[in-house]
Amino acid sequence: MPLKSCLPVSSFTRDVQSWGKLWEPGEGIKSPNTKENLGRDYLEAASVLVSHKHLGPVDQSTLTRVDDTLPTLGKSESSIVPHILVCQSLDDIESAARQKLSRKAWVYYDSAADGLHSFRTNRLDWAKISFRPRVLRNVARVNMQRRILGHVANLPFFIAPAAMAKLGHQDGELCLAKGAAEKNIVYCSSTYSSISHEELAPCFDRQEGRGALSFQLYVPKSKGDSRALIERAKALGCKSLVITVDTPVVGKREEDDRYKAELEIEEGREVPRTTSAANNEEAPILRGYHSSTVDWDDILWMRKAWGSNQGPVVLKGIQTAEDAYLACLTGVDGIYLSNHGGRQLDFAPSAIRTLLEIHKFYPQVLDDVEVYLDGGVRRGSDIVKALCLGARGVGLGRPFLYGLSAYGTEGVVKAIEILSDEIETAMRLLGVTDLDQLNPHYVNCSLLAKELPENVTPTNPMRQHKL
Ligand SMILES: Cc1cc2nc3c(=O)[nH]c(=O)nc-3n(C[C@H](O)[C@H](O)[C@H](O)COP(=O)(O)O)c2cc1C
Repeated sequence: MPLKSCLPVSSFTRDVQSWGKLWEPGEGIKSPNTKENLGRDYLEAASVLVSHKHLGPVDQSTLTRVDDTLPTLGKSESSIVPHILVCQSLDDIESAARQKLSRKAWVYYDSAADGLHSFRTNRLDWAKISFRPRVLRNVARVNMQRRILGHVANLPFFIAPAAMAKLGHQDGELCLAKGAAEKNIVYCSSTYSSISHEELAPCFDRQEGRGALSFQLYVPKSKGDSRALIERAKALGCKSLVITVDTPVVGKREEDDRYKAELEIEEGREVPRTTSAANNEEAPILRGYHSSTVDWDDILWMRKAWGSNQGPVVLKGIQTAEDAYLACLTGVDGIYLSNHGGRQLDFAPSAIRTLLEIHKFYPQVLDDVEVYLDGGVRRGSDIVKALCLGARGVGLGRPFLYGLSAYGTEGVVKAIEILSDEIETAMRLLGVTDLDQLNPHYVNCSLLAKELPENVTPTNPMRQHKL
């Protein structure tokens, strides 16, 4: 096999001659012995690899790190990660993290479902909305404060729940909590935080202007466990409860599964992943790690268990206008439009599409509940677009994980500062001085509007449900 047509993937070599146009040997490859340094095109190409193209282990002694030959301008002496001051955008922070993260961490953070369509569309859809700026207005003073998830925050965005921050940095979620507290924004911590919530809560000393902790709940299989988690969140003084509802099973994240399979093969323990689709009561549910039975009725008792004086309850993972409407009928305070960063159902709509769908079919939802959203948000201008369309606040997941992975708490603070700068600048250039002045007239959504469904469930959606 000519060397030109072989690509090392992790510590294995694969024949890429048959990839055709997907990948040109030698193109876009910075560091041949690590996949972390390769671009999205590579990941795309890797996703079509088949096992019979697997050629065997790579002789590591034949490889050199191309990074070693890169110019050092803007890089600190001791590491290949650029100096934090060089980072001007969230993409810069992501590139820095990519240099530093272990393959295991990169794969977990970056992975998304199936063919990555939703993952990509999440970002692309923001670019389909343009601004309609107004001029000749006094914009010297700008106010970016907003009540987000029950807390008066300095900025209209929050740190979305993301598990396993310790994979990226030894201080894990503490970096997120400290960054949020310093900048007075909300941190919504994951059920699967790799640092205990008891350690995170003291970072927010309950003073005004010191950020706030929100609790994300993956509904466990047992009702008792759900109740216990809700009680724990209350005892810790969490300001809101965010119930994730888009995970009756976990999405098929191939990059993650491929990595696990490679590890198992290397370690000589091959574990079959696919279970049969047996349908009896006792059979394990394929990818069913949390409750696969949770339904609208459960939201009613969870709402009650949280209590009415405790702060908002929000449903995370709403992806259609009908479900947004149904959510309003459960008495929750907010809905959180999300396709889980493209990690659950591939081809699920981006949150901004769902928001437009709500505008088109159930606009009253926007008056009834607070609307949050996330997915592919990488610019302050994305946040401003969402706010123009009625979102109360916007979450970001991966960017903060990348911030802490590259630079610890400083990286989280830096990411917040970049977004703050971008929002403030966008507001002035749009001609507004307060977030409350943002409205749909400041954006042109006609490109996305053309792609919305023509109609939704035509009858009263409640007829199909017990509520
Ligand atoms: C590594 C990772 C872990 C995540 N863990 C959780 C979680 O524990 N609970 C949850 O509700 N969502 C989780 N999410 C989804 C995020 O809350 C959020 O919806 C998503 O990251 C938004 O997309 P973005 O990463 O493009 O900002 C996770 C996402 C990532 C990337």
